[in-house]
Amino acid sequence: MIAKILSEESVLAALSTVEEPELHKDLVTLKMIRDLVIKEGEVSFSILLTTPACPLRNRIENEARTAVKRIPGVSNVVIRFDANVPFDGRNRTDIKLNVKNVVAIASGKGGVGKSTVAVNIAISLAQCGAKVGLLDADIYGPNIPTMMGVDFLPPSSNGRITPAEAYGVKVMSIGFLIEPGQPLIWRGPMLHTAIRQFLTDVEWGDLDYLIVDLPPGTGDAQLSLTQLIPLSGGIIVTLPQKVSYEDAVRGMQMFRETNVPVLGVVENMSYLQLADGTQMEIFGSGGGKRLAEESKTAFLGSIPMDPMVRSGGDSGKPIIVSNPDSAPARALKDISGLIAAELSISALAEGR
Ligand SMILES: Nc1ncnc2c1ncn2[C@@H]1O[C@H](COP(=O)(O)OP(=O)(O)OP(=O)(O)O)[C@@H](O)[C@H]1O
Ligand SMILES: [Mg+2]
Repeated sequence: MIAKILSEESVLAALSTVEEPELHKDLVTLKMIRDLVIKEGEVSFSILLTTPACPLRNRIENEARTAVKRIPGVSNVVIRFDANVPFDGRNRTDIKLNVKNVVAIASGKGGVGKSTVAVNIAISLAQCGAKVGLLDADIYGPNIPTMMGVDFLPPSSNGRITPAEAYGVKVMSIGFLIEPGQPLIWRGPMLHTAIRQFLTDVEWGDLDYLIVDLPPGTGDAQLSLTQLIPLSGGIIVTLPQKVSYEDAVRGMQMFRETNVPVLGVVENMSYLQLADGTQMEIFGSGGGKRLAEESKTAFLGSIPMDPMVRSGGDSGKPIIVSNPDSAPARALKDISGLIAAELSISALAEGR
């Protein structure tokens, strides 16, 4: 083998042996290497990720560094990261948004933790540096304002609604517009009008991710929301037990009927960690994984039960902020990275 000399070509050749673990192509083919500079023995470049929440960033960095260091004459490798979230240019509804990815969180059943997942995922993506919005489409039981600790909207400007902001996330909910405790009775067209306005009349700005918390169930209202909102993908939240599984299958069918790709399954309340180190499986086990396997979608992770999750929601300080090192917060963080990765894969597969 001819000894390689240090040059732009040899660095790119080395980096073309490093595969992006999720997109299954090399960094050079994916045009992820930017600003390559060689100065004496020092090689510096940026890696342009498809999401700032990239779960495999460390692995990519290590592999890129190792590959470049093998070239004779390299004394130092400086790697920076940057991110450009690919645009899912799908054209599913007539609503146009400056949002690269719109993701709905759904379940067949109520009370399984959709809003909890939506809130913590949104904050986690924002903490990674992404521009994130959170739309509470649960017009029957809007819990997002309480969970995010925001009570009202800022004044609107130029006739457009300014979303509230908490933990770096822009938030919109019908909860801002009604008196607490007031019953909400919606007829089909009103529901459509309200959600349409939440999308078009709210000054979301440019967003990388808009997370949508759907109302529980798989009835007409939910179905029509998935048709109205220009979704890039849907996430199903389920509990481990059989009855929740059966409801989740209906949630999955709802997305499929409306041609919304299912990005994966999240299992919530998987177990309770006991003081003696053992785990109690209150709701049984395995439902989430089984659902993902049988429906051929990704299993995005399990979130343990923890009273801190509940108190975080009630106090307006979600667990990912209040106890970032706890097991549920770490699970939610990993899940948010996987969702971002699934969205990148799905957007790039569409050729954009
Ligand atoms: N992993 C968990 N550990 C402990 N409590 C949790 C966990 N996940 C959610 N909870 C709590 O369970 C309750 C229901 O969760 P949440 O409101 O997120 O569910 P939901 O699916 O959005 O409900 P709904 O169908 O009513 O909209 C909340 O009080 C929440 O704080
Ligand atoms: Mg909810």
